[in-house]
Amino acid sequence: MDGLREKYLSEIAAAKDEAALESVRLAALGKKGEISLAMQGLRDMEPEARKAAGAALNVVRDEVQSALAAAKSALADAALAERLKTEWLDVTLPPRPAPVGTIHPVSQVTEEVTAIFAELGFAVEEGPHIETDWHNFDALNIPAEHPTRTEMDTFYMARAEGDDRPPHVLRTHTSPVQIRGMLKHGAPARFICPGRVYRADYDITHTPMFHQLEGLAIDRDVSMANLKWCLEEFCRAFFEVEGVELRFRASHFPFTEPSAEVDIRCSWTGGQLRIGEGDGWLEILGSGMIHPNVLRAGGIDPELWQGFAFGMGIDRLAMLKYGIPDLRAFFDSDLRWLRHYGFAALDAPTAHGGLGA
Ligand code: PHE
Repeated sequence: MDGLREKYLSEIAAAKDEAALESVRLAALGKKGEISLAMQGLRDMEPEARKAAGAALNVVRDEVQSALAAAKSALADAALAERLKTEWLDVTLPPRPAPVGTIHPVSQVTEEVTAIFAELGFAVEEGPHIETDWHNFDALNIPAEHPTRTEMDTFYMARAEGDDRPPHVLRTHTSPVQIRGMLKHGAPARFICPGRVYRADYDITHTPMFHQLEGLAIDRDVSMANLKWCLEEFCRAFFEVEGVELRFRASHFPFTEPSAEVDIRCSWTGGQLRIGEGDGWLEILGSGMIHPNVLRAGGIDPELWQGFAFGMGIDRLAMLKYGIPDLRAFFDSDLRWLRHYGFAALDAPTAHGGLGA
């Protein structure tokens, strides 16, 4: 007995880690362990001798067991102490500096607008910036001789010498995505398309690249009334003003019939723009019922389906909502401007959680 006791107590003391300790435990107390086997051996002894030997073995077993437990917790403590040497935190340090990057107002407004239209059941479609002449013009009921082609200050891509197909263009509006979306999904359809567009123009309110948001809804009986409601809902949510008032003015676009430009009621006082009050009107978008020729180009039968479409400038929306005076500054990459007008990186806008900061 004493031999067993000495042997295991010193092996336990020598064990350097939990694995070594575990093999000592198995050797002593496992099913085939020496102490366990000795206990089984008691069965073959005379009752008197068994009693004495049994009591002594129990003592040895308990001692080994508690030595194991003590060694185990000592090892765990040592391991923890070792880890704490490297994994400590100085809670007296000042908090992390605020992140220096900000979300660009165009990205922010794109997210805001997408969140609002998502609540109204609109999906998001995207299309290429380098567009075919057909998608950008013909399919939208703008034939080759149509004056809009020259009015749009289109950037044309070069064609190889001798290639007399119509050149590709940098899309002049997001409307070609209407065609792509219709061809892809058919009817009914409800989607928006935010994205960059290009026109050769440059002054305080025009840059050669800017952003538009297209939207359309096609169904059996979609009407101007639905268009009006959608746009009013949108403006109310976007400008976060209850009393938004819109004015629909008859207009003309080749791809819609009838067409309307939409103005929003506002006031300019002390250089400050207020939406929803005053006597001023500010044009914010173009819209109308999708022209049957456009539906046809999108593979949709205009005898069975009808729909509305609208297009607006995202940059312009950003300027109005956040009081940013000069469009050109949007694309100057001036860090001071970005810090001033940018948005916190982790505040994603949602219609329920609030849109702008
Ligand atoms: N594509 C038009 C533009 O760039 C806007 C528009 C879109 C108008 C859809 C009506 C319907 O000015």
